[in-house]
Amino acid sequence: MSITSPSSGTVHYSVEQDIAVLAIENPPVNALSNALRSALFEAIERFENDETASAAVLYGVGAGFIAGADIREFSLEPWGPTLPELIARIEACEKPVIAALHGNTLGGGVEVALASHYRIAQEKTRLGMPEVHIGLIPGASGTQRLPRLIGYDAAIAMITGGRPVKAKDALQMGLVDELTSEAGIKEAGIVFAQKIVAEERGPRRLAQVGAPAADAQLFDTARAEVAKKAKGLEAPSIALEMIANAARMPYDAALAIERRTFLELKESAQHKALVHAFFADRSAGRLPELKGVEPRPLSQVGVVGGGTMGAGIATALLLSGFSVVLVERDEAGLDRARSVITANLEGAVKRGKLSADGLAKLTGEALVLACEYEAFSNADLVIEAVFEEMSVKHDVFSKLDAVCKQGAILATNTSYLDVNAIAACTSRPQDVIGLHFFSPAHIMKLLEVVVANATAADVLATGFALAKKMGKVAVRAGVCDGFIGNRILAKTRAAAEAMILEGASPKEIDSAIRGFGFAMGPFETADMAGLDISWARRKRLAATRDPRDRQVGFADAICEQGWFGRKTGSGYYLYGKDVAKHTPNPDALELIEAERVEKGIAQRSFSAEEIVERYMAAMVNEAAAIISEGIALRPVDVDLTLLYGYGFPRWRGGPMHYADAVGAAKILDVVKQGAKDDDYFWRTAPLLEKLAEREATFASLNG
Ligand code: COA
Repeated sequence: MSITSPSSGTVHYSVEQDIAVLAIENPPVNALSNALRSALFEAIERFENDETASAAVLYGVGAGFIAGADIREFSLEPWGPTLPELIARIEACEKPVIAALHGNTLGGGVEVALASHYRIAQEKTRLGMPEVHIGLIPGASGTQRLPRLIGYDAAIAMITGGRPVKAKDALQMGLVDELTSEAGIKEAGIVFAQKIVAEERGPRRLAQVGAPAADAQLFDTARAEVAKKAKGLEAPSIALEMIANAARMPYDAALAIERRTFLELKESAQHKALVHAFFADRSAGRLPELKGVEPRPLSQVGVVGGGTMGAGIATALLLSGFSVVLVERDEAGLDRARSVITANLEGAVKRGKLSADGLAKLTGEALVLACEYEAFSNADLVIEAVFEEMSVKHDVFSKLDAVCKQGAILATNTSYLDVNAIAACTSRPQDVIGLHFFSPAHIMKLLEVVVANATAADVLATGFALAKKMGKVAVRAGVCDGFIGNRILAKTRAAAEAMILEGASPKEIDSAIRGFGFAMGPFETADMAGLDISWARRKRLAATRDPRDRQVGFADAICEQGWFGRKTGSGYYLYGKDVAKHTPNPDALELIEAERVEKGIAQRSFSAEEIVERYMAAMVNEAAAIISEGIALRPVDVDLTLLYGYGFPRWRGGPMHYADAVGAAKILDVVKQGAKDDDYFWRTAPLLEKLAEREATFASLNG
């Protein structure tokens, strides 16, 4: 028989060979919905009263045991037994309860397993407490039971880090009692349960086990480490204090604090932002225009250019299982490309992503280096990563057009240039697309897939399929200068530069933006990327620039000195051997001051709050324009772009989620305030105005 409830979540109850089998089913990941908790509670009661069953086995139907609380239900009113009530009920059973684990066993899933008296796991099970990734802590005794079972160090690592452990490590740390290589977890669970019954081993209750003694230093050391790693995320440090409670107060008192804290965090801004980011990730490739469109097959991929970008793309492709043909102009270029790719792959070996044998294979048979475009004749896709100059791109694409096979996709990695113009110099514009990788391409997760006017639907689908295979997050972008990410970056940087002219220093702006949660401020980032890059772009755009578009002079003046940032040892900052310890460049500050004097601008001070407000208003306003123009299809695509390509703090959800949290009206006020001084730069995006008027959110446009 089945115990079902109106919403999703079922537990199938049966008795097999004297063992009650509770099959937990809530596809796709058996999340603990209200309905599932209710059904499981009832099934446990039934087992207690079932004289034909001497022990119970809980297992998950489908790909895993239980992947934690049902995130979709967090914003709804809960009903039925809470997870702590369910867990207490399981643990209180008078007959042994065995959790038989496979696949993803996460969060509340681990808590259910900890409430069970014994645990057996299939070898491929992943056990984890990922709550901190959505701004929460375990809310149903995880912070108290886990350290009792596996000790403080292992519990701190699992709960504050949020990363799952493999079954064999779980066995070693005592988190599970036995591993099985059996394919059928239900059957393995029954055999294990029969053994427990035969050996007359009764229930084991972790709640009754005393907490291990803690060394005085342990939590102090952990506090510093956890805070450092958390980078602004609050939950890990809070979770640590909950674990520390296990050492300093009785179980029930610590449990009550854990629950209260969990419920408070459920209302927090960070949790809401992280849940937004969780669903944003999963919506990345879901575009109506991709529905039912088959991507073209990809096996061999060509790369034109072996500089930092080309070599990075080649590395990423090799690591994703593609065979790669890289073409450079001459032998020296090929040598350089080979050494960069090898160094990148050695880095992957060091990070444990690749074996030494794997490295030999990837730099051997999987990689072909050539000086002639004819080497691309078999490639299914060729990605150009050469100098950002339209005439150079024209040359490359006409050559590719001549040598590539019919149906091969020709992609440009341009960051700014017009993909329509690039497509126009081939006889097959339908096969041309932009694939904008971010540097270092084998590390950064974002891929902007840029659709030109003639790009065929299956070419777009192939761009998304490629990203998936490469483990990247793909965002569809339309053609404009800078696409989604760099166009927003240019706007926010201009807003920051304007504040400098008014009196803020680059360091003040960088600290304010770091304080917001970015790993680096805009001027530190500019120094790292190379100031010459945006200088070249400014020069390129100069001829067509609207005369109302105010430009600061100091950005060019700094470049004219040959100060291009980190690579030249000076830019907005001066760099020694340790680039992290940079100091403001006094000569650059002098150039800034000279411009203020020349333009008669009186210097005033800026608070960090005002800097963030203006910077974010420029970002949101530009993003709203980008969405209205169809350059980004949905607000969530802007969030993904900034989260994965520009270091936007995940716990803020992305700029559009931030705008929704602050309110469109408030952002609009800042834009209008800015327009009093510069009404060209601060042109209000009509979409922002509309949302502010209707008190609506960007999220409402995600569809
Ligand atoms: N609650 C509700 N839905 C969930 C969920 C959860 N805890 N975990 C996953 N899902 C949904 C996803 O939204 C997705 O739905 P969709 O197909 O409608 O988009 C579906 O399950 C599959 O998830 P996906 O992440 O695409 O599959 P995967 O196999 O790559 O990863 C997990 C599976 C379980 C590892 C991953 O989804 C995950 O980490 N989930 C969150 C677990 C968690 O944080 N639990 C603790 C909550 S307090």
